[in-house]
Amino acid sequence: DWTMAAFRAEAIDRIRAQVGDGKVICGLSGGVDSSVVAALVHEAIGSQLTCVFVDHGLLRQGERDEVEQVFRDRFNINLVTVDAGPLFLDKLAGETDPEKKRKTIGATFIDVFEEEARRIGGADFLAQGTLYPDVIESVSFHGGPSVTIKSHHNVGGLPERMNMALVEPLRELFKDEVRALGRELGLPETMVGRHPFPGPGLAIRIPGQPLTAEALDLLRKVDAIYLEEIRSAGLYDAIWQAFAVLLPVRTVGVMGDARSYDQAVALRAVTSSDGMTADYFPFDHTFLGRVANRIINEVKGVNRVTYDITSKPPGTIEWE
Ligand code: XMP
Repeated sequence: DWTMAAFRAEAIDRIRAQVGDGKVICGLSGGVDSSVVAALVHEAIGSQLTCVFVDHGLLRQGERDEVEQVFRDRFNINLVTVDAGPLFLDKLAGETDPEKKRKTIGATFIDVFEEEARRIGGADFLAQGTLYPDVIESVSFHGGPSVTIKSHHNVGGLPERMNMALVEPLRELFKDEVRALGRELGLPETMVGRHPFPGPGLAIRIPGQPLTAEALDLLRKVDAIYLEEIRSAGLYDAIWQAFAVLLPVRTVGVMGDARSYDQAVALRAVTSSDGMTADYFPFDHTFLGRVANRIINEVKGVNRVTYDITSKPPGTIEWE
């Protein structure tokens, strides 16, 4: 696509002009925006860029491995991964309130990121995947109604605290254009075409119960089976977001000759164009039955599977 090729070349010139021989740090989340920023900035300034991936222990199965494979092994980017799972679990211990979880995760994320930035000797610039809709939203929201449904966690506040200038090469782009740029830069389709994933990760998909390593493991296994089935049915790209929720309830079941008393999960999948409204995805029942069977047979500790048919509004996409 000639437009993207031209954008890429111009963006690289601009990044070089802005950064000079300064050092740049970039927080990688595994999502589309930060991945594209990292690949683009790396192409512009090579080893002057260091990426930091904070593994908060709330990621899906395989996510960290994929980031390491793509950025460290394939792109040869300086990548620091931080094993912060135990720290986050410690900070979140006993917390079940959705907003408090978000705030704790956001604050802990900033602390960990700052410490890593210090450890690598500081940086002059922070590269961020701010998109055009983010730029517009932060302006137009001021006049709007001030009802916060959910506070969204991102790394806002970092640049001020760390006294770094921002490098935001995606500020003029919409999401589709960012995806096209990612393809142009050679990022894998699994990264470029990925469903959105919330910053607080699996923490907001384990409602009403304390977060534990065991609960996270259970949910990760369920989620991986669900996504694998969605991909192999060829449905991934027709869906805006699909995920599992680990419910805070045990139910009775029969396994062979024995009674089981295990946890229930809910599966969610929605179509949407911007996340503001959404409809539940109309899977056929054969598909749902197959997924439910696999989950119950393969994930010890889960004996019931439900499918969430709530649209947004009145529901939200996430359960908390
Ligand atoms: P809701 O649940 O509000 O979600 O309908 C709309 C979109 O936002 C995502 N989401 C979040 N993303 N931090 C994020 O980065 C958050 O705290 C958060 N909460 C919801 C959600 O996954 C969906 O794409």
